[in-house]
Amino acid sequence: MMDCCSVNGLAEEFNRSYVQGELRAYRRKGLDKRARTLVEFLQAQGLQGRNLLEGGYGIGALHLELLRAGAAWVVGVDVSPFSREAATELAEEMGLQDRVEHRVGDFVALEGEVAPADIVLLDRVICCYPDATALVSASASHARLFYGLTYPRNVWWIRWGVVAMRAFLALRRSAYRPFLHPPEKVKAIVASLGFGEVFRSRSGLWDIVVFRRQAAPGA
Ligand SMILES: C[S@@+](CC[C@H](N)C(=O)[O-])C[C@H]1O[C@@H](n2cnc3c(N)ncnc32)[C@H](O)[C@@H]1O
Repeated sequence: MMDCCSVNGLAEEFNRSYVQGELRAYRRKGLDKRARTLVEFLQAQGLQGRNLLEGGYGIGALHLELLRAGAAWVVGVDVSPFSREAATELAEEMGLQDRVEHRVGDFVALEGEVAPADIVLLDRVICCYPDATALVSASASHARLFYGLTYPRNVWWIRWGVVAMRAFLALRRSAYRPFLHPPEKVKAIVASLGFGEVFRSRSGLWDIVVFRRQAAPGA
C-alpha cells in the first residue's frame, strides 16, 4: 500500500505505468547510453567483489547490469513502491534476486539504516528531489570508494525545459516537480566529503560524473 503524497509526489509520478514503460524499453533495447557509460567506467575500475548502493534505482537495470558485470551485492533504496515491484521482477527474470535487497523509502530518511558500500550511485535522481544538499550528503557519505551521479546538463534549453515541465505538472495538479540543482553546488558538497572527480562524460540531456574517495570518511 502506498501512502498518499510521498515526498515531492515521487511515488505518484514514478507509478506503475511509468515503471512498466521503463521495463518495456529496457527489455527491447537494454541500458541506455548514459547508464551504459557508468557501467563501462566502473567495470574498467574492477567490479569483482564490490558491493553497491543505489538511490532511486527505478527498475534496477543499472545495478542489475553491474551485478552481471561482476559486482557482488546491491542494496537499492527508492521512494516508489512501484520501483521495487519492477526491480524485483527484473532481478528474478535475470536470475539475480539473491544478490539484491530493494528497499522502499526516501534515501535521506533511511540513511541511518543503510550500510556504506564500495560504490554508491544516483542515476537521474538528484533532479527529482528538492533538497540536493541533504540527498548528496547522505548518499556520498555512504561511498567507500566511488560515487557516481548523473544529472541534467545546466544549459539554457534544459533550464527552460524544466520550467515548462514544472508548469505542465502544476496544470496537471501533480505534486511532483523536477529541479535543476547547480552542478557546482553538488560538486562542492561531494568534494567537501573527501572525493575527487575521476570521470566525466555526457549523454543527451545528462552529465555523468564519477568521484573517487581520497580521504577516509570523517578525516
Ligand atoms: C527519473 S527516475 C530514475 C530511475 C533510474 N535511476 C533510472 O535512471 O532509470 C528517479 C527515481 O528516483 C527515485 N527517487 C527520487 N528521489 C529519491 C530519494 N530521495 N530517495 C529514494 N528514491 C528517490 C524516484 O522514486 C524514481 O524511481
